[in-house]
Amino acid sequence: MDKFLIWGGEQLKGETPTSGSKNAVLPILAASLLAETPSTIVNCPWLKDVDTMVEILDAMGVRVQRTFEGTLSIDPGPLASHEAPYDLVRKMRASIYVLGALLGRFGKATVSIPGGCVIGPRPIDLHLKGFAELGATIEQRCGYIFAEAPELVGREIFLGGPQGSSVGATANVLMAAVKARGTTRITSAACEPEVVDLANFLNRMGAKVSDAGSPTITVEGVSELHGVEGYEVIPDRIEAGTFMTAAAVTHGDVTVTGAEPAHLQSVIAKLSEAGVKIEMHNGDIHVDATGDVGPVDVVTQTYPGFPTDLQAQFMAVATLADGLSRVVDKIYPNRYMHVMEYARLGANITMDANSAIVRGVEHLSGAPIMASDLRASAGLVLAGLAAEGETTVLRVYHIDRGYEDIEEKLARLGAKIKRVKSN
Ligand code: EPU
Repeated sequence: MDKFLIWGGEQLKGETPTSGSKNAVLPILAASLLAETPSTIVNCPWLKDVDTMVEILDAMGVRVQRTFEGTLSIDPGPLASHEAPYDLVRKMRASIYVLGALLGRFGKATVSIPGGCVIGPRPIDLHLKGFAELGATIEQRCGYIFAEAPELVGREIFLGGPQGSSVGATANVLMAAVKARGTTRITSAACEPEVVDLANFLNRMGAKVSDAGSPTITVEGVSELHGVEGYEVIPDRIEAGTFMTAAAVTHGDVTVTGAEPAHLQSVIAKLSEAGVKIEMHNGDIHVDATGDVGPVDVVTQTYPGFPTDLQAQFMAVATLADGLSRVVDKIYPNRYMHVMEYARLGANITMDANSAIVRGVEHLSGAPIMASDLRASAGLVLAGLAAEGETTVLRVYHIDRGYEDIEEKLARLGAKIKRVKSN
């Protein structure tokens, strides 16, 4: 298990590129199963989670090849199985995306039920409700979901849950609906850019999806889809936001290139509120945090609200801000595993029900800390970059799931960070 050694206190400076979006490419890879002809995806980030999705496709008989840097070719022609086994699904919840794609392709799917998750309960009831409303029979036994639909039939499907819309349920139901007979209307649909990217990919395959990005998505079912040549995945807004936040926590001056500022409006607004100067030029976002960085209240919401996947990173900024910040996660009300780790670095954070009250301190001081999930580990790395002395971040395999070359990218900005093998 690798760990990071970080010697904090360097102001990050320079330019860093944005990789393709993890949360966009995962459903797109699953959607490629809907065709019988090959697709190629460009700007595909090389991440553990992408490896896992490739392993799942491979186990089902799909031929997947990384043709050259960032390009993945998927040939679903030889797809022989409609089953995704526990051994692979347990590694990554997004494996559940193959359920919608297999239902759309074969009218049949057997997928292991994803297990627990450290960021809180993550049910899949809305996914299953959507499939059932399209006409699938769903059975759950022996840890598996058995879904079957001799014919999928379009209809109106409400996908609102207790936390609002669901990204995963919207994407999954969309993948089945594109092959359903007639019209499907998904209401309370997730508006996240990753859903729009999936819809764009499906449309390039020959699907008829309209109004993705709005709360009501309409799908006219088609009987056949084809592969897509050279589909370019959107830039990863969470990676870009993480580097913008890294600039803020180190009082740095960083330009994040190749991003999509329109996807980062809430993040830009919050950093500006904290006193960080931000300028945009096409896809470049210049973050100048060399002045004072003030406290900031953050409440995570569905898009276009502030993303839960940047909550831990913003909390790292709040630990050193001049004043009191409040951080509330409305999407995952228990996503606070990083709080105790920040406390080990000297942060002053108290939990009040499901809110974190963060009183900025003068300094953090380096210590060994342990990553618990992907985004929390990014937050810990950021806090380590700002802390005085040496910080060791253990279990960085979490970060490898979703950040491409993070230590190289940070080092190029001047961070003192090194990956070492841990026992
Ligand atoms: N929910 C339900 N029932 C469902 C599905 C979701 O109640 O059937 C609830 C969840 O428990 C949660 C809320 O709805 O409280 C939102 O969950 P959503 O389904 O939108 O999340 P997801 O699709 O499982 C994706 C990202 C997450 C990101 C969330 C929220 C991928 C692969 N994952 O998860 O990303 O936090 O949307 O934006 O796209 C990450 O990248 O680190 C990550 C966790």
